[in-house]
Amino acid sequence: METVVSGIRPTGNLHLGNYFGALKNFLKMQQEHHCFFFVADYHSLTTHPTPFDLHKNIKQVLVEYLACGLDPEKATIYIQSDVPETTELYLLLNMNAYMGELERCTSFKEKIKTQQNNVNAGLLTYPVLMAADVLLHRATKVPVGKDQEQHLEMMRTFANRFNRIYNVEYFPEPHAFNFGEALVKIPGLDGSTKMSKSENENSAIFLADEPAAIRKKVMRALTDEGPKTPNEKKPQAIENIFNLMSALSSKETYDHFNELYNTCQIRYGDMKKQLAEDAIKFTEPFRARISELMSDKEYLHKVVRMGAEKARESAGKTVREVREIIGFKSF
Ligand code: TYM
Repeated sequence: METVVSGIRPTGNLHLGNYFGALKNFLKMQQEHHCFFFVADYHSLTTHPTPFDLHKNIKQVLVEYLACGLDPEKATIYIQSDVPETTELYLLLNMNAYMGELERCTSFKEKIKTQQNNVNAGLLTYPVLMAADVLLHRATKVPVGKDQEQHLEMMRTFANRFNRIYNVEYFPEPHAFNFGEALVKIPGLDGSTKMSKSENENSAIFLADEPAAIRKKVMRALTDEGPKTPNEKKPQAIENIFNLMSALSSKETYDHFNELYNTCQIRYGDMKKQLAEDAIKFTEPFRARISELMSDKEYLHKVVRMGAEKARESAGKTVREVREIIGFKSF
């Protein structure tokens, strides 16, 4: 049995990228492994330090987790800020994380370009906080999308460095996990290679989107005038639509449109109509559960309380042991 940890920042509703990148694999693992899934609310402050309504965003993501099938009886579902042990491990790991390696991190370099007025220390140490989340439960498997690969590599560096510095075999190496397949990156509808909630709302299909919104966004997705020669290489925006179709539609549907593309007969309007209907069909069960759960205050309260309790038990043990290893002893 492996220990599995993953989380998502509450900076907007969950989209298909979050689902296929992280949630789907986690759902498959929760039956058989020791699983923790959390709402990464501390992390969200690195990009949104004064959120308009943090609690509402956290609740939305929690509800969406449950609507997707995360089961609080099988996995530990918790809010990161309910587990203050996270911050102690983060502080301790920060002492052995070097400026140079943090500054070289791709996500840091990207973020400082997009938020030049808010290059805060939390942004720089984002990978250390992520390492704390995972090492807190001494996890080995982390279901995430492709964009997290470098963060996982840094976690291993911090875990191994801790072991070396204190001459222990305490933290195991965590690895990104997708059942042996390559990590996924779900593209956006606007030609970008990654569906994302922050950059362009119209580029993402959210699990909570109404059918009309999905149709509108998909029909507006970027395309071109179509291929001129048989078996032409697909431009990025077109490749994106095909990739989305491969995630959402049946193989027959994908093959049908691929054949039309390769024989220069494709009509993108028809393809997008099909894709929109398949996206609606895919998200429908989530949508129904989301609105049901949203009003079940009592259940949400129970889930969060139970999750915090279980997560703190595991986190408390690790932090006690780490303190002991470093040399903080009680008088
Ligand atoms: P966030 O909220 O940016 O993304 C959450 C998860 O969704 C995946 N993801 C995608 N996967 C495929 N295609 C996409 N277009 C796409 N967009 C997002 C991300 O890879 C991620 O798995 N830093 C993390 C949150 C976090 C975390 C952790 C994850 C904090 N601590 C510890 C794992 C373990 C993040 O990027 O959140």
